[in-house]
Amino acid sequence: MQEKIRIAVIYGSVRDGRMADTVVSWVKSQLSEWQAFAVDVIDPAGRDAEDEGAHDHKLNAADGFIVVTPEYNHSFPGALKSLIDSHFWEWQAKPVAFVSYGAASGGIRAVEQLRGVFAELHAVGLRDAVILPNVWSQFDEDGAMIEPERPSRAMKTLLARLQWWANALAHARQAHTYQEAVT
Ligand SMILES: Cc1cc2nc3c(=O)[nH]c(=O)nc-3n(C[C@H](O)[C@H](O)[C@H](O)COP(=O)(O)O)c2cc1C
Repeated sequence: MQEKIRIAVIYGSVRDGRMADTVVSWVKSQLSEWQAFAVDVIDPAGRDAEDEGAHDHKLNAADGFIVVTPEYNHSFPGALKSLIDSHFWEWQAKPVAFVSYGAASGGIRAVEQLRGVFAELHAVGLRDAVILPNVWSQFDEDGAMIEPERPSRAMKTLLARLQWWANALAHARQAHTYQEAVT
């Protein structure tokens, strides 16, 4: 049997009462339909040393990432920046997919800024993303998506692209380390 592709789902928000829990639950439910993936969750809200060690391990083991981010003041949350900046090698030559949410913009300005940050870290930002505008109106009180068709279709595309990139880059990293490319 082919080894599973390890995907780390990363929370962007650490706010009390965050919508992030609802959105991450939906992302996990979508991922569960894909046999190809093994999934870890990284939540920067856990701040003790044990959590940080677990973050390091999960980021290192990941073949690819799904960053689930809200938009705060036309950018992404500081806690997410802190998590990203605390690591370097873990991101290199791996794909990053984005699921964003917010008010009218659905978090697209947060994602556009994240693209630049991840490019600096030698990660590959996927073009295909999932955008959830007016996020409060997208889920019912039990956290179920009210009109799942369009976001689920977008998620399917995102996951297919992520699978392709994660596979391709895992093979490439195995053949030659990324550092070797410039020596
Ligand atoms: C400090 C702050 C700033 C925000 N700025 C924006 C913004 O610039 N654009 C937008 O679309 N939504 C904005 N929002 C709405 C959030 O994206 C929305 O509340 C989202 O649910 C926040 O994610 P969270 O609940 O998981 O923390 C802002 C919310 C907060 C708390």
